[in-house]
Amino acid sequence: MIYFVTSNEGKYREVLAIAKKYGLEFEWMKEKYVEIQGKDLEEIARKSAEILSEKMKDKKFFLEDSGLFIEALNGFPGPYSSYVFETIGNEGIIKLMKGVKNRKAYFKAVIAYWDGKEIRTFTGIVEGEISDEIRGSYGFGFDPIFLYSGRTFAEMREEKNEVSHRRRALEKFFEWLNA
Ligand code: IMP
Repeated sequence: MIYFVTSNEGKYREVLAIAKKYGLEFEWMKEKYVEIQGKDLEEIARKSAEILSEKMKDKKFFLEDSGLFIEALNGFPGPYSSYVFETIGNEGIIKLMKGVKNRKAYFKAVIAYWDGKEIRTFTGIVEGEISDEIRGSYGFGFDPIFLYSGRTFAEMREEKNEVSHRRRALEKFFEWLNA
């Protein structure tokens, strides 16, 4: 049995839906874990998994650290995405981006997997743009302001799971697990 550790229900739902396509099952451990501060998602995911592994011992688990990186804001909010979402939210990002021509942004997800002995990481990225208004109400976090091929992730609903950063990281992880 493999545990997926997250307190974020939106992430859990997506991971569950994607895992089904690969015929995989895991146990949801709805828990907050110690997340180190850092500039690099790989480092944050790996170190957080390292700390958690001391408690989990030989129990296999994975966690996922993700963020939104906006080019015109030099990669902000990046590793601070959850804090920025809780504080200024989608409206705040739209305000920061008012009048800004370069709308390019990407989402990144890093999965860290502990197999009872060591940690491996898997990364996924999806490129898109920041919309100038909130569109759609599905999903979580920055989904209503992240445009992918003309629609926001919130407007794409489940179709998001075909192309998202999370899908791309999980694809690598699940293919490795199934190999
Ligand atoms: P963390 O990985 O728990 O540190 O949080 C990442 C934060 O980035 C989330 O709370 C969201 O605000 C944002 N985020 C990450 N992935 C997504 C996504 O797929 N859609 C929308 N927002 C996301």
